[in-house]
Amino acid sequence: MNNLWGGSIAEAARALNSSIGVDSRMWREDITGSMAHAAMLAEQGIISKEDGAAIREGLAGILADLESGELTIDMSAEDIHTFVEMELTARVGDAGKRLHTARSRNDQVATDLRLYTRGQIDALFGLIREAVKAIHDKAAEYRDAVMPGYTHLQRAQPVTFGHYLCAWAMMLARDAGRLTDARKRLNQSPLGACALAGTTFPIDREMTAAALGFDGPVLNSLDAVSDRDFCVEVLSALSLLMAHLSRMAEELVLWSSLEFGFVTLPEGFVTGSSIMPQKKNPDMAELIRGKTGRVYGDLVGMLTVLKGLPLAYNKDMQEDKQALFDALDTAKLCLSVLAPMVEGMQPHPEAMRKAAGAGFINATDCADWLVEHAVPFREAYAIAAGLVHQGKPLEELTLEEYKAACPVFDESVYAAVDLDACVKRRHLPLDEELAYLKRFLKEN
Ligand code: ARG
Repeated sequence: MNNLWGGSIAEAARALNSSIGVDSRMWREDITGSMAHAAMLAEQGIISKEDGAAIREGLAGILADLESGELTIDMSAEDIHTFVEMELTARVGDAGKRLHTARSRNDQVATDLRLYTRGQIDALFGLIREAVKAIHDKAAEYRDAVMPGYTHLQRAQPVTFGHYLCAWAMMLARDAGRLTDARKRLNQSPLGACALAGTTFPIDREMTAAALGFDGPVLNSLDAVSDRDFCVEVLSALSLLMAHLSRMAEELVLWSSLEFGFVTLPEGFVTGSSIMPQKKNPDMAELIRGKTGRVYGDLVGMLTVLKGLPLAYNKDMQEDKQALFDALDTAKLCLSVLAPMVEGMQPHPEAMRKAAGAGFINATDCADWLVEHAVPFREAYAIAAGLVHQGKPLEELTLEEYKAACPVFDESVYAAVDLDACVKRRHLPLDEELAYLKRFLKEN
């Protein structure tokens, strides 16, 4: 028998019902949760101290054996909770059969999943930090490299590469903030809610909550076993994180093309072609972009599982883990590739500067010069547009050509349309941006 409820089940139904293929990764959390529960049962006199000790020793042995690889998980068990409890009973006998007193798999799985998700959020913080650090360092190194900023992917106004990269890091800093918020809300213990209506045993929910590092128990027992908001919140934060990663990835694809030539992606993060010897394809950036869609699918899948579900636990909810784990794995993998890819990328400031020198990205500055000389902005705009239409770079127009367009022009317009001056006069707050990111790195 490989289930806890004693009945038999058709072969096809077993395949549908089984979740161990997905939830076996929560073995550590399941064992830790059971240890806390057993300690509480013994402390409250619900089971004997001897049974409590036997259970905890048995669980510690299972934990150690799984860690060492001496014990492998029996994938024919219905789920990880079933496996751990059966293994425990095989090891310690009757005491093992008392572990599930005043508990249900419904509060157990909700507890395991919160513990697992909390650990994953902490791992994500580390990876986001790595990515922010790589971006920050590159931004600091190339803070003043002039490049074109774009709207509609058309050259618009000059910025610097440092400023551009800081925009990337800001997105990731917000993602970390969203995960911090989600972590705060999920850090409550469902244990003690049991199947849905609590228990008649004199349990101590505060004790198990504290032992597992939760801020306290979930107050409402129905809510405790049916709430998967934390999955949705994390999936939503991960979807936005992936949206950000995919935007960065898209820019890396563009920038590393011959058409842009702004960066060279590092060896180890590009692939060759089986037919075209010259190719260096930005596959990793493309895959980050491509995997984003699946994470969105995980979010929508999770929301759809929850839609219209009556309280409290329904087996539909077993589908929560596949979506959440897939999104967590994907986001972690993508972050762990993005960070070294950014760290190793070689920017080409000359190419950026060359691109900034063409495309009239100083046209606004020319109009602004006229405004400073008392010409209304709409008129200044039209005069600058007329100059642009002549097709000659604004730096190369003669003063006569300027004066023909508007007699107000004088020599000082050249300083205004100079590329470096254009950037300088924008007062991009690079110092503050880099300091903000430094603080983020210190605090995270
Ligand atoms: N494997 C189940 C899940 O992941 C555990 C809970 C089972 N509860 C039940 N009432 N059948 O949701």
